Amino acid sequence: MTTQAPETVFSDIFKSNAWGSTESVSGAGSELTNTAQVIRELPHLLRELQVHRLLDVPCGDFNWMQHVDLTGIDYHGADIVDALVARNNERFGRPGRHFSRLDLLSDALPTVDLVFCRDCLFHFSHADAFRALHAVAASRSKWLLTTTFTYRSLPRNADIQTGGWTPINMEMAPFHLPPPRRLIVEGNVTESIIYATDDGSRQYPQSDRCLGLWLVDDVRDTLHKLGR
Ligand SMILES: C[S@@+](CC[C@H](N)C(=O)[O-])C[C@H]1O[C@@H](n2cnc3c(N)ncnc32)[C@H](O)[C@@H]1O
Repeated sequence: MTTQAPETVFSDIFKSNAWGSTESVSGAGSELTNTAQVIRELPHLLRELQVHRLLDVPCGDFNWMQHVDLTGIDYHGADIVDALVARNNERFGRPGRHFSRLDLLSDALPTVDLVFCRDCLFHFSHADAFRALHAVAASRSKWLLTTTFTYRSLPRNADIQTGGWTPINMEMAPFHLPPPRRLIVEGNVTESIIYATDDGSRQYPQSDRCLGLWLVDDVRDTLHKLGR
């Protein structure tokens, strides 16, 4: 078991570009080819929900988000990695768009209309994922939009060490969130997960990577019911 603090784990990933993308230090899932549908769809959802204050945690390197039409939205990007936050402020900061250092596992989150938490909980142990959900619930924000892999028949929700990766389905154990109110299908093109058939005779790629929308009240109720 690693004893490293999450800040060290993710700072090291940032410094060594451990997720291996030449385009984004946030990894292949944050490249433009893999986020084209999110870039197109997200502004429509934000408008429909009348989002004026958006917390993007974690914001990563803002590689694809810089291309999202956020007109009229006060954007706050936050990440645990200080150096990344400083670089984002330098490159992308402007009135109505700022970045700060914030640890989803230990800091209080501001109250916003929507907490956007893409590609994060799937890097966390179950205990840390629940910590993050509690932080969102405590923020008294209205909506949570977060990554969920919708298929149920494939391996999901392994209890990894924080800093690793596992596809997560937020409706399945141990999270048990209700069905999402909306889904954005990401249509990731280069990052399909390769599964083998049960008998191992054939491999097949799957990409059911989505963004699911929940009312934060529903997240809080679920945490309460689960007693976690
Ligand atoms: C795969 S990247 C995703 C970034 C962004 N959401 C995107 O879609 O491009 C994961 C990010 O989570 C950040 N992170 C990990 N643990 C965190 C925590 N406890 N609080 C805030 N950010 C965290 C990492 O530093 C990294 O930038």
